[in-house]
Amino acid sequence: MKKYGVNELRKMFLDFMESKGHLVMKSFSLVPQGDKSLLLINAGMAPLKPYFTGAEKPPRTRVTTCQKCIRTGDIENVGKTARHGTFFEMLGNFSFGDYFKKEAIHWSWEFLTEVVGLDANRLYPSIYLDDNEAFDIWNKEVGIPAERIFRFGKEDNFWEHGAGPCGPCSEIYYDRGEKYGCGKPGCTVGCDCDRYMEVWNNVFTQFENDGNGNYTTLKQKNIDTGMGLERLAVVVQDVDSIFDVDTICALRNLVCEIAHKEYEKNYADDVSIRLITDHIRSATFMISDGIMPTNEVAAMFSAV
Ligand code: GLY
Repeated sequence: MKKYGVNELRKMFLDFMESKGHLVMKSFSLVPQGDKSLLLINAGMAPLKPYFTGAEKPPRTRVTTCQKCIRTGDIENVGKTARHGTFFEMLGNFSFGDYFKKEAIHWSWEFLTEVVGLDANRLYPSIYLDDNEAFDIWNKEVGIPAERIFRFGKEDNFWEHGAGPCGPCSEIYYDRGEKYGCGKPGCTVGCDCDRYMEVWNNVFTQFENDGNGNYTTLKQKNIDTGMGLERLAVVVQDVDSIFDVDTICALRNLVCEIAHKEYEKNYADDVSIRLITDHIRSATFMISDGIMPTNEVAAMFSAV
């Protein structure tokens, strides 16, 4: 497999989705517009919520983006795992009442195996518990044997972030090999360690959560996919972590130079180097979207 760079992968995805009839849109700001449920944009779908609910008419019923995102829910893992970062770019293809599970699943497989060239034998789909429609598409149409399709519950395979459009999902994991495994008995797809890395998430957005756990069925069936560009680059470039992919590695090396530290000499230093690298990315993109840092508590609260 060719070791594509981050910038190549981003373009490959957007071009592929454009060839499937999607309108390529620019990343939206990290600052949510008209959405009080979020402090920062945390997923490709977040700025598009009104199109999923039908409240606004999208410029096209098929849209694709590479969205700047910040997620802090897993902040304690940043620097310690291969895959966590507070800032990341999310590649996404979206259907607003247009195509649904069949096309979304087929295209995710086509992109990963035919366009990027990932080894199909190292890819494992997961589905929501009783989503037999998704199971049949993976099994009967794509040809994945039943024992390679994992069924997970709400915690893993139902996508929602607070209030808004949500639904069951079908993820695709890539087996990076034993050397990244935890070695614990039962380490398999879904394990918290860095061996099976989730690269793609197909969300079947059919419901709206009112923020209090009450779900209503949306007027239209939608698709919201999310693929972390940095994670995809990790598996494509066959490197240890997101801090080793081409673009982020350049920044990490600069951090080492300024701090007079050598990477991979000492675990505690490495965690700090990764944390600083990650936080520089987040801070830079937030500042570029007009979010100014302050050490004055009063200023912080007046901004909220
Ligand atoms: N909205 C899909 C995801 O963030 O994985």
